[in-house]
Amino acid sequence: MQFRQLFDHRSSTYTYLVWNEDTRDAAIIDPVREQVERDSQLIDELGLHLRFALETHVHADHITGSGLLRERFGCKIGVHNQVDSDCPDIKLVDDDYVSLGSQQLEVLYTPGHTDTDVCYLADGVIFTGDILLIHGSGRTDFQSGDAARSYDSITGRLFTLPEETLVYPAHDYSGFTCSTIGEEKRFNPRLGGERTREEYIRIMDEMVLDKPGLIDIAVPGNQACGLDRQG
Ligand code: FE2
Repeated sequence: MQFRQLFDHRSSTYTYLVWNEDTRDAAIIDPVREQVERDSQLIDELGLHLRFALETHVHADHITGSGLLRERFGCKIGVHNQVDSDCPDIKLVDDDYVSLGSQQLEVLYTPGHTDTDVCYLADGVIFTGDILLIHGSGRTDFQSGDAARSYDSITGRLFTLPEETLVYPAHDYSGFTCSTIGEEKRFNPRLGGERTREEYIRIMDEMVLDKPGLIDIAVPGNQACGLDRQG
């Protein structure tokens, strides 16, 4: 499996383009609407067949490009099956597989940042969305977020993967691009090292964070696969 990491400066969002080298079947994870032209050009340049636009969750800070990519490439939109929306084509559950030719992305249900978070695992690489960030984790104070579920998803699912597994999150605000499960187990300041579940919950619950500026338009916009032009 090959992949590229793409960045949207305005929202600090990472988008990933993943493909099977032999068949050129591809999936894009967490596309951003403002970057659809850039992403489409790259897909064409690389000679890829875009089969899927996958979301790790319903984003609050940007609007997805999945609907526009479906119009352009005929790909199927995939989200977790508890997402409250009729526009996706595929509703994913834990342990599902998304096939790119003979290669597969495994779906891991990892709630906590929201109640519909999924990660996608392929070939020693995990795309973690916002549940596990590099030396951080996604906020748990809105969109059905839950610090205890976040801790359990990260330590119970992600930290059981091989330590060398590469971690590629949906955001970074500090200039990091990639980590590993082993690094996060040791150095993540919120839940790495000797941190306990209770400490993590306290850290998350004590955070005072601004409401994302776009949440009131981004969430309904994303429930419409980014095709709500009012958003
Ligand atoms: Fe998020």
